[in-house]
Amino acid sequence: HAADAHRTDLMTIMRFVLNEQSKHPGSRGDFTILLNHIVLGCKFVCSAVNKAGLAKLIGLAGETNVQGEEQKKLDVLSNEVFIKALVSSGRTCILVSEEDEEAIFVEPDKRGKYCVVFDPLDGSSNIDCGVSIGTVQPSLQIMIDSIFGIYMVKHGREPTLDDVLQPGKNMVAAGYCMYGSSCMLVLSTGSGVNGFTLDPSLGEFILTHPDIKIPKKGKIYSVNEGNAKNWDAPTAKYVEKCKFPEDGSSPKSLRYVGSMVADVHRTLLYGGIFLYPADKKSPNGKLR
Ligand code: FBP
Repeated sequence: HAADAHRTDLMTIMRFVLNEQSKHPGSRGDFTILLNHIVLGCKFVCSAVNKAGLAKLIGLAGETNVQGEEQKKLDVLSNEVFIKALVSSGRTCILVSEEDEEAIFVEPDKRGKYCVVFDPLDGSSNIDCGVSIGTVQPSLQIMIDSIFGIYMVKHGREPTLDDVLQPGKNMVAAGYCMYGSSCMLVLSTGSGVNGFTLDPSLGEFILTHPDIKIPKKGKIYSVNEGNAKNWDAPTAKYVEKCKFPEDGSSPKSLRYVGSMVADVHRTLLYGGIFLYPADKKSPNGKLR
């Protein structure tokens, strides 16, 4: 019976968020509506990546298709889809996209209380090398992802840039979506982390990884060792110990994709450490 329930009682991401919302009396469902629009952006990217193949969509910006229309790169398209979806949700007031130099202030009549910071298509530079083969190699495909963070605008005044320059701990929610052989969205609304996998036949994200907890101990270290020459002494010593443990334990394994979401996701599931330490080249670290 448990197995049947598993197959027939589907916990979609919307049902999950509505359940969460019902724990907060007085909530009007604005967050659920906002998330629904983010999910739409994720589904769009997922379908574009899987259906069309990247050959058509990556690396062809500026070229024209048979209709003479300019074809847009997947990152440009994804950015547009996310922005239009977020604005039309009526729940946002400021959008900050990795693709755009300036923050977008939503027109007053379409404004809501949420500020969304996002990278609609991270890692697209990593997959340009996949173009010539026509379809994407699975190992490369996994490196494409979207990242988002959501803040609440401070009450009682016009939205300003300060609203999106708040520390990460003030976020009301954050997550990422990875586009690979399957498409997975990982979300936290502040208590716990949950993973949802897109069922393409239903077009729904289904809860597949409830309450993800990073294992207490991990056997993996993940860092760009090519930067070792520029590290400070404590960092270099720590990584050395991962390879030559002084307590007689086994050395850790090195795994480094070079795509933050992939490295963070593996770390969440398998444990270990992922680090991008400050170094002489990037005194504030590289990840923004
Ligand atoms: P960008 O800020 O240039 O997009 O780089 C981000 C990123 O690709 C992360 O996803 C990844 O963790 C890191 O850079 C890898 O950096 P490096 O190539 O220096 O190891």
